[in-house]
Amino acid sequence: MTLAIHGGTPVRTAPWPSWPPPLDDPQRERVTAVLESGLWGATQGGTACAELAAEFARRSGVPYGVTVGNATLGLFAALRGLGVGRGDEVIVPAYTFVASATAVLLAGATPVIVDVDPADLHLSAEAAQAAVTGRTAAVMPVHLAGSPADMDALNALAARHGLAVVEDAAQAHGATYRDRPVGGLGDAGVYSFQASKAMTAGEGGLVVCRDEDVHEAVWSVCNLGRRRGGEWYGHPGLGWNLRLTEIQAALLLPWLDRLDKEIDRRNAFSAAVERELATVPWPDAPPAAGRAAGQPVRVVPQPAGTTLDSRHLLMLRVHVPFDRSFVLAAMAAEGVPLDGGYPPLGGMAALVEAGARVEPCPAAEAAARDVLWVRQSMLMDDPANAAHIAEALAKVLAHAP
Ligand SMILES: Cc1ncc(COP(=O)(O)O)c(C=O)c1O
Repeated sequence: MTLAIHGGTPVRTAPWPSWPPPLDDPQRERVTAVLESGLWGATQGGTACAELAAEFARRSGVPYGVTVGNATLGLFAALRGLGVGRGDEVIVPAYTFVASATAVLLAGATPVIVDVDPADLHLSAEAAQAAVTGRTAAVMPVHLAGSPADMDALNALAARHGLAVVEDAAQAHGATYRDRPVGGLGDAGVYSFQASKAMTAGEGGLVVCRDEDVHEAVWSVCNLGRRRGGEWYGHPGLGWNLRLTEIQAALLLPWLDRLDKEIDRRNAFSAAVERELATVPWPDAPPAAGRAAGQPVRVVPQPAGTTLDSRHLLMLRVHVPFDRSFVLAAMAAEGVPLDGGYPPLGGMAALVEAGARVEPCPAAEAAARDVLWVRQSMLMDDPANAAHIAEALAKVLAHAP
């Protein structure tokens, strides 16, 4: 068996499904109707943004939603709407997309970068507790990869210290925690419709919340400080134009009808990968510490309380000493391109220079060394093809330098 990187035959030769999936007829019809109406912007009387906001709120189990240009701005607007700003600290996990922290900076507050749970890689309630100071105003659980963060523990922490809770649900459309939808479990929840996400319009975002005053405040931040129903050129608050377009909302609305089916498909593929990984043999000289983990590659477990993982990504943990750049290159040559995932936020000089406070984050640093991601588009493949991932990993680990 020759590694494809050395000229052997790749395990997988057929292309993986692409993302986004092909447009469907309801999307085509809805987008065409908006285009033909001329009501492209959200202030011209069209209804698509309002429908999308209402439907996401309903599905999140809360009364209010606001569409927004992207989730970075959505997190910013949610923080501002909850009164978080200059002088405040916001706790964010170290293993997440950089926007979780830059949104805090945009709001004028200080991101406090805190370690994740070493097993499930979500914000650790214990580490968050240790980072609370008199200036802490909010905590931002991230529903990483589509798995809900352990909200009971984080909401309890927030209640103890009077903190606002902003859920970063950018990757978790449709996921549930103890049978309750994410996004509606804190004070505000934020979804992304950026090109890689489970529902996409190329870009886009949406904030949901349960409190009427928070809704008014978030809406005002996204609408130049206007009051809903107030004077067009009256701007009693401070705000910006952060709006989504009607065209984007029209593309997204029909997606809601197929989201659950797509989540089921990704879960079926993920379950098949998990089964297949049990067949990946240890390389010749497995490390003693790694052996304790049972098998060389495992699926990263979900946090306690996960009832539906939306499987934006499938995270794998490799328990052998390896040079990840070799593994990524060799897997790609085998026709199974994986992703190396996030570097820890605390190591990003730009964040630190901008004032972020960094707590010790050994678990996020370890994740950056030995976690690999299977992308959402691959998870949309036939579960029978999950074997390609295990087969390629077995081949590559057997050759790891
Ligand atoms: C966890 C997380 N938070 C925030 C964002 C920011 O979303 P957007 O690209 O819509 O601004 C993303 C993705 O891009 C994300 O993955």
